[in-house]
Amino acid sequence: MNQALPESAITHDSDFIIFGGSGDLSIRKIFPALFWRFLNGQITHNFRLISCMRNVLTKKEFADKLRPFCEEALKSQFANAASWESFLELIQILELDIINEIGADNLYNTLRPKLSKERPCVFYLAVAPKLFGTSCLLLKKNKLVLPQSRVVVEKPFGHDKKSALALNQEILNVFDEGQIYRIDHYLGKETVQNLMALRFANVIFESQWNNRYIEHVQITTAETVGVEQRASYYDSYGALRDMVQNHMLQLLCLVAMEPPSRFNADQVRNEKLRVLQALRKIEDDEIQIGQYENYTQELNAQSNTETYVAMRVNIDNWRWAGVPFYIRTGKKLGLRASEIVITFKNRPHDIFSEQGENANDEFPNRLVIRVQPHEGLRLHLTSKKPGPGGMRLFPSELNLSFDETFAERLPDAYERLLMDIARGNQTLFMRSDEVLAAWDYIDPVIEKVRKKSPEIYSADSMGPEDKILIKEGRYWFDPILEQKE
Ligand code: BG6
Repeated sequence: MNQALPESAITHDSDFIIFGGSGDLSIRKIFPALFWRFLNGQITHNFRLISCMRNVLTKKEFADKLRPFCEEALKSQFANAASWESFLELIQILELDIINEIGADNLYNTLRPKLSKERPCVFYLAVAPKLFGTSCLLLKKNKLVLPQSRVVVEKPFGHDKKSALALNQEILNVFDEGQIYRIDHYLGKETVQNLMALRFANVIFESQWNNRYIEHVQITTAETVGVEQRASYYDSYGALRDMVQNHMLQLLCLVAMEPPSRFNADQVRNEKLRVLQALRKIEDDEIQIGQYENYTQELNAQSNTETYVAMRVNIDNWRWAGVPFYIRTGKKLGLRASEIVITFKNRPHDIFSEQGENANDEFPNRLVIRVQPHEGLRLHLTSKKPGPGGMRLFPSELNLSFDETFAERLPDAYERLLMDIARGNQTLFMRSDEVLAAWDYIDPVIEKVRKKSPEIYSADSMGPEDKILIKEGRYWFDPILEQKE
């Protein structure tokens, strides 16, 4: 069943305690990720996985609810007939009513026999943010805030800077910053980590990675899904808070940050923080918002909430002065794709102008980093058309498809993040100052957007017609052309 693990992947026996253990996040993401890690041998039989919930399910009910989300793992080469049952044996279900503190002593008694400094105790708060503070206090009252304890929280981390500060304080009253893991699941995606490898494990790109050679950067996260069952949450957040404040700005930081001197949590996060602090206040004509048609019918109420945002982001530092970063994200778009496109400047002088047809065409070099799906990298180059006819040029590309190159499946972001928590590695988690700096930038953007009505776009389009890039003679690089599906 187990894969041979590299030594660096071996993880201490740990306890994972999931609050909100029967909720969507647990069932769709956390437990399936734990199951994959179990199949891969990173989670051993000595782990304890405790699913805490208010309305207790029997083990069978829980297993039946979870199983559909584990089918892919069950069909994999790592699973055998006994895997599912063995995994279920690690799971205990406990009643826990966080508000009325029912079941907290039982949680303590369950954990106590194996509590030890060497055994990480991970409390994953898969509950609404308004319960973060109460959950932390409950852990404190029940003597579960120990040096080996870690607490995990998900976005939305606040609604604005003020609420983020308050939320932070509630958690910091109980845990130290070094024990807090704020998840932005984009940072756990393989290609997002690969972006750091690409930049800092190679020399060829870094020397070009600045305003001398880069013309502009585009970051797109397009989704085909709408807001579905999350309409009431989404309507009070919108795309700016739901996607831009966290995932999109994190991607931007990884593209724009200076090389840290070491790959460790504080150095990486210090560099990302510097980027966030260098973002220039947005102008009115640098943002465009949209809403997909029928959104208000789905919501069953009038609303100006944006389901699409496009922005021009400017970074005020030496490396990036004059290089716009265009970011866009939207729901119910024509395709699902997340990608980062780096467009390089044109050649300074054209030696081919008198050669053959197309010889003086400009095909800018572009590096396309495909975050999902079909993860990979493509470098657009200009080549000579083979055969007679002079120096005829045409666009060609170098393609590194992770799908095709690596036979192994790419793990889901949560798998990587959960194991990093057990190992105490905070590199891929957001530090509190980063979250606050992102709000410092986004709060005024939201203020501006409030005065605008979103443009309605049809589902299956790529959002409203562009009004930002076109003014600068640019256009969105459309991932549709790249889609293999
Ligand atoms: C979540 C947002 O953080 O990310 C969702 O709340 C969004 O609205 C999701 O759909 C996108 O994540 P992924 O991994 O599917 O790109």
